[in-house]
Amino acid sequence: MARIKRIDHIALIVQDMQGALSLWQDTLGLDVSEIKDLPDEAAQVAFLPVGGSEVELVKPTTSDSGLAKYLKKYGPGMHHVCLEVDDIIGMLDQLKEQGIRLVDETPKMGDDGKMFAFIHPKATFGVLVELYEYPRRVDE
Ligand code: CO
Repeated sequence: MARIKRIDHIALIVQDMQGALSLWQDTLGLDVSEIKDLPDEAAQVAFLPVGGSEVELVKPTTSDSGLAKYLKKYGPGMHHVCLEVDDIIGMLDQLKEQGIRLVDETPKMGDDGKMFAFIHPKATFGVLVELYEYPRRVDE
C-alpha cells in the first residue's frame, strides 16, 4: 500500500511576488533556494526551505490560466499542500478505487524527474492536495 512520507511544501498564491518575498525573507527570515518561471503552468514560483519542508510562493504570469482565475476568485492565500508519497501511481490507484476525484488521473513528470499529481479539492474538504514522488537516488 502506498504511503505518505512527509509534507513536502505548502503553496501560497500571491499577486505581489516581491512583496511576498520581502515578508518571507526579510520579516520572517527564511532563505530563498530557487525562483523560477514555469511556462507550462503560466506561473513564477519561489521556494523557501524550512525544517525539511518548503514554503512555495506561486504567482500567475498570465491572466487566463487556472491559477489566475483562482487568484481572482479567492484572492491571495493558501493554494495547496503537497505530500511526498513513496509510490504515486499506487497512491492514485488506491484513491481511484475509493472513488476519490482526481485532477490528474496519471502523474505528470517535472523537468527534474519528479512525478506529481493533484487530488480534486471537492474530494478533500476544500483543500487542493498535490502528491510528489521523487526519483530514486542511486544509493536507495
Ligand atoms: Co506545489
